[in-house]
Amino acid sequence: MSSVPGSILVHGGRVVDPASKIDEKIDVLVVDGRIAEVGPELTAPAGAVKVAAGGLVVAPGFVDLHTHLREPGQEHKETIASGARAAARGGFTTICAMPNTDPAMDSAAIIDGVLQRAKDVDCRVLPIGAVSKGRRGEELTELAALREAGAVAVSDDGDAVADTSLARRAFEYLADLDIPLAEHCEDPAISQGGVMHDGAVSARLGLRGQPASAELSIVQRDIALAEAAGAQFHACHISTEPSLQAIADARARGLSVTTEVTPHHLCLTHDAVAGSGDDLLYDTDAKVNPPLRTEADVQACIDALAAGVVDAVATDHAPHAAVDKQCEFDAAAFGISGLESAWAVVNSLVDSGRLTLSAAIERLTIGPARAWNLDRGELSGLGTLQVGAPADVALLSTDAVSRVEPAGWASMGKNTPLAGHTLIGVVAATISQGRIVWDGREH
Ligand code: DOR
Ligand code: ZN
Repeated sequence: MSSVPGSILVHGGRVVDPASKIDEKIDVLVVDGRIAEVGPELTAPAGAVKVAAGGLVVAPGFVDLHTHLREPGQEHKETIASGARAAARGGFTTICAMPNTDPAMDSAAIIDGVLQRAKDVDCRVLPIGAVSKGRRGEELTELAALREAGAVAVSDDGDAVADTSLARRAFEYLADLDIPLAEHCEDPAISQGGVMHDGAVSARLGLRGQPASAELSIVQRDIALAEAAGAQFHACHISTEPSLQAIADARARGLSVTTEVTPHHLCLTHDAVAGSGDDLLYDTDAKVNPPLRTEADVQACIDALAAGVVDAVATDHAPHAAVDKQCEFDAAAFGISGLESAWAVVNSLVDSGRLTLSAAIERLTIGPARAWNLDRGELSGLGTLQVGAPADVALLSTDAVSRVEPAGWASMGKNTPLAGHTLIGVVAATISQGRIVWDGREH
């Protein structure tokens, strides 16, 4: 369901806007794509659409720093439009699109093409440019031109920038460009083609594992390179306790180091690959990179998220076709489709008392917006419900039980090891740039 931008009055909900330290039962008025007023008992202008939010939390729309759309090149897995629909259903109103498309988003022309195709979809799409040409790790892209074309960060995600001298030069250029290098922290010399976490489960299954040190090696290297260059290092999808410790230390020293964790690393361990019964599962839907880790790592991710060492929950939404997963484990694609289950995973941590509601919403809104300095120019106020901010709003249930059922998702990627799991939390409706792009409320 969608409506043209005009006036929308969201009334009767509990407004939670961590950036403004607001948590109270008030109304939100949207006019022409901007937040116009926030306060008690607002009156709707003539012609306004009224959205009843009784029993729901009204939050800023979510910002995802890490989404894989498969366009251009792999539209059978996801298109920009289908990914944006999935985002809307997940409460996300801004998604940052990773450049591992085909061709890779390594030139201003390709970035421009993505932006053109993203114009009328159900959320805002901010492109991430590639660090190296073709993501081959050999030659730097024209980083300044990518930024000029609209790239909000650069990344060779899917792979680390493994060549240290190339990474060093990238950080040196980026210091003047004011955008981060979003690094996939995996040292290939250590991970050596491992298909899951290196530990007790990989040993039992007879699968090649990648150890936690593969992640830590690049985290430590990039902290050093970013510090020397005076640039920002954003550590993507951090999954292990030692990496989080290194990042916490760097932040404590005042370095420009930001990070994100994924919903799946907050709720699943490497046991998901093997299953819980006597028969070994080899669940390819649990094959993801970085891999699902140990229980201690999961707890460390939750603790770091709660403590604010982690800026953002980012989905690493990685949709794949069924054929990419219905094969032997070694041959299966890495990745979990995550936009439409993210809120339920995060809110389940709130429900179990591991995270406050305000922290949960912060890490999905202003946390990521600030981490990448996205709230500037015409996006000033992004991630907040402040007057003048873009009219991006998520209406959330914090107590409704939800079963993860990817068959009904908007994403073309049905690949999730959470299928069939029962979680707490539902995205009831989403307003993106002043338009109702998702309305799942009962009428
Ligand atoms: O699991 C993953 N899937 N990890 C990555 O780094 C890439 C991603 C993808 O593009 O499918
Ligand atoms: Zn990714």
